[in-house]
Amino acid sequence: MKILVTGSTGKLGSALLNQLESSDYQIKLTSRSKPERIVNGEWVYSDLLSGEGLEEAVKDVDVIIHAATSPVKHSKVVEVSGFKEFLGKMQHIKNMIYPSIVGIDEIPFNYYKQKLKAEELLRNSSIPNTIVRSTQFHHFIENIFLSKPFFSRYIVPGNFKFQSVDVNEFAKYLIGLVEKDPQGRIADFAGPEIVTLKEMAEQKIKINNESNKVLSIALPGKLSKSFSDGKNTNPLRKIGGTTFEEYLRDKVK
Ligand SMILES: NC(=O)c1ccc[n+]([C@@H]2O[C@H](COP(=O)([O-])OP(=O)(O)OC[C@H]3O[C@@H](n4cnc5c(N)ncnc54)[C@H](OP(=O)(O)O)[C@@H]3O)[C@@H](O)[C@H]2O)c1
Repeated sequence: MKILVTGSTGKLGSALLNQLESSDYQIKLTSRSKPERIVNGEWVYSDLLSGEGLEEAVKDVDVIIHAATSPVKHSKVVEVSGFKEFLGKMQHIKNMIYPSIVGIDEIPFNYYKQKLKAEELLRNSSIPNTIVRSTQFHHFIENIFLSKPFFSRYIVPGNFKFQSVDVNEFAKYLIGLVEKDPQGRIADFAGPEIVTLKEMAEQKIKINNESNKVLSIALPGKLSKSFSDGKNTNPLRKIGGTTFEEYLRDKVK
């Protein structure tokens, strides 16, 4: 069985790579930049923006885990039109595993709209597929909201809630789908607890013995409301084991 991991230099792609390299699977990797370390497997260049290398990437592959993404730059092309072109080359694929995001149909955010369109494209294609939505990854929340205090304050928007997950746990879950039949959209993969961003900031301050404080600022608008209402969470699917707090503690060990 040969598995293609797209987005092999990304966070999810690297986690997949780390776990797959000690498996019996044949591995093919693709992205625009080359991963720093490839222990087992081949890498090919491909670009969802230009279409270059997509044919070569899918050649001789049985299953794809599609971890390539571009949330900010050219997201419409990378997530949708480039993805559509990519799908056109996949007639021989046994299972296209597509990691998506919890709440993309309810949160008015451009990147999420593109992800939803990609899900629709895949669902309406003839390619056997498995779509699984995950909540945000721990490191992602930390990098976006809690990486740089401003004048000794972590400024957190309103009452945002997250149910973040360990990216390695999600990678393991996706690899576990490789041997299963394609199932279309399956149940969400979500983290073990729902906490506010304010609580996450407080956990970080405590664990790292920081002197920073947390400043919570309410934001107007539908986007803010959807994160405050927890549309990005799924309390019925607490599958992940590592909490955000444990993730932070592991980092300082
Ligand atoms: N981050 C989260 O919290 C989260 C939560 C749930 C689900 N997900 C989903 O998980 C997947 C992976 O996310 P991630 O956070 O691991 O992403 P990431 O760290 O930003 O990695 C993105 C990958 O895509 C590649 N890429 C970017 N533009 C490309 C292009 N034009 N052509 C080909 N490859 C390109 C990048 O490599 P190069 O730049 O070298 O090409 C990189 O390897 C995405 O589908 C995302 O929606 C993420």
